[in-house]
Amino acid sequence: MPESIDLTAFPHDFAWGTATSAYQIEGAVTEDGRAPSIWDTFSHTPGKVAGDDHGDVACDHYHRWPEDIALMRRLGTDAYRMSIAWPRVVPGGDGPVNAKGLDFYDRVVDALLAAGITPSVTVYHWDLPQTLQDRGGWTERDTAEHLAAYASVVAARLGDRVSQWATLNEPLCSAWIGHLEGRMAPGLTDLTAAVRASYHLLLGHGLATQAIRAAAPGAQIGLVTNHSTIEPASCRPEDIAAAARMDGHTNRWWLDPVYGRGFPADMRELYGIELPERSNDLATIAAPLDWHGLNYYFPATIADDPDGPVPYAREIRLPDVTRTGMDWQIDADGLEALLLRLTDDYGVRRLYVTENGSAFPDRVDPDGAVDDPGRTRYLEQHLAACARALRKGAPLAGYYAWSLLDNFEWAYGYDKRFGLVHVDYPTQRRTVKASGHRYADIIRAHRQGTTVA
Ligand code: FCB
Repeated sequence: MPESIDLTAFPHDFAWGTATSAYQIEGAVTEDGRAPSIWDTFSHTPGKVAGDDHGDVACDHYHRWPEDIALMRRLGTDAYRMSIAWPRVVPGGDGPVNAKGLDFYDRVVDALLAAGITPSVTVYHWDLPQTLQDRGGWTERDTAEHLAAYASVVAARLGDRVSQWATLNEPLCSAWIGHLEGRMAPGLTDLTAAVRASYHLLLGHGLATQAIRAAAPGAQIGLVTNHSTIEPASCRPEDIAAAARMDGHTNRWWLDPVYGRGFPADMRELYGIELPERSNDLATIAAPLDWHGLNYYFPATIADDPDGPVPYAREIRLPDVTRTGMDWQIDADGLEALLLRLTDDYGVRRLYVTENGSAFPDRVDPDGAVDDPGRTRYLEQHLAACARALRKGAPLAGYYAWSLLDNFEWAYGYDKRFGLVHVDYPTQRRTVKASGHRYADIIRAHRQGTTVA
């Protein structure tokens, strides 16, 4: 049974989009003056990425972008979330601007607009120039300032045509997974580095917000964060406390300072790391935003783990729940709950689901089709959750499916496929999956004011 989606809940100007990020799709890593990023270094370090995959070619989007924009049109989407590669535009991290790098994004933006697709540009989606990492990366305050300078360059060039800007994608992953768990670039496992990185990422967000506003008057600026709903594994007080700590680590640490509440005191105490604070930083971090982007994939059930890693809590794997090919639990109610939390607790006045999607092991049938019922159902369930949140007052203005294309899924390499469009990497052939066709049907039905069968 297809999940029924209350399409009448979506406003008439709802943005129907797909999302990608630069390193995951572009390839062409040495072309036109691009310098290495921390993800080039990390992925070329043996053993860091499944299959020792890397983004050298990826989806070859750097050369195939016209075809990819044509695919967006085929899906009927009217919005596209993309990121800019910092090492293409300012290859040294700071200093000279690479005109050829900017020209590339200029062409893509023009082509999107010509196709009737509104670009939403994320300034930083994890590809820090390696030269900045060599100088300490996000553990250093200078990196936040360099981000703002780079953001200013990009906004000055594209701001006459791009109005929707996000400073960062998922700072949680950069800080916690990249500096504490070591599963992403730069691959550190150091709490002090991680906490400092989290601080400088948020500071960078605030400084970049100012820089974009100055360079592109009228810009609509947001931050993209990823969150999970957190449930205690039992009603034991220890598990309830552990869930509160994980909520602090995953949700409050990122939202409280951005929405003017400062860094949560309980988490500051738990981390026990002095923040590299200077006066006015908190005001910079809490600069008013025009919108917030939520990336949502899965919920988490948490048990106390006094001897485990920070925040001394561990995730319990629930039996008898449905999961994606990432082994992530599927729970669309979590999306509804988080949209309402951002609305009701944090007072967000314009919201986007900037990423949501699922990986499954797809196969191209002998007749050339890709039937992906798991992904189709995931999409329907989560759009139904968006409709419920809208009915309950969430100011949701758009949804970007992750992802347009199968792509380089970070430490998982090419093995995990999130695309609405299948990519056969050896030939770079693109095939719209059944889920992509379904998304197109849903978008069409919404525009026509009808329902989907
Ligand atoms: C998010 C990332 C995105 C993609 C999805 C599956 O954490 O922002 O680049 O990898 O997960």
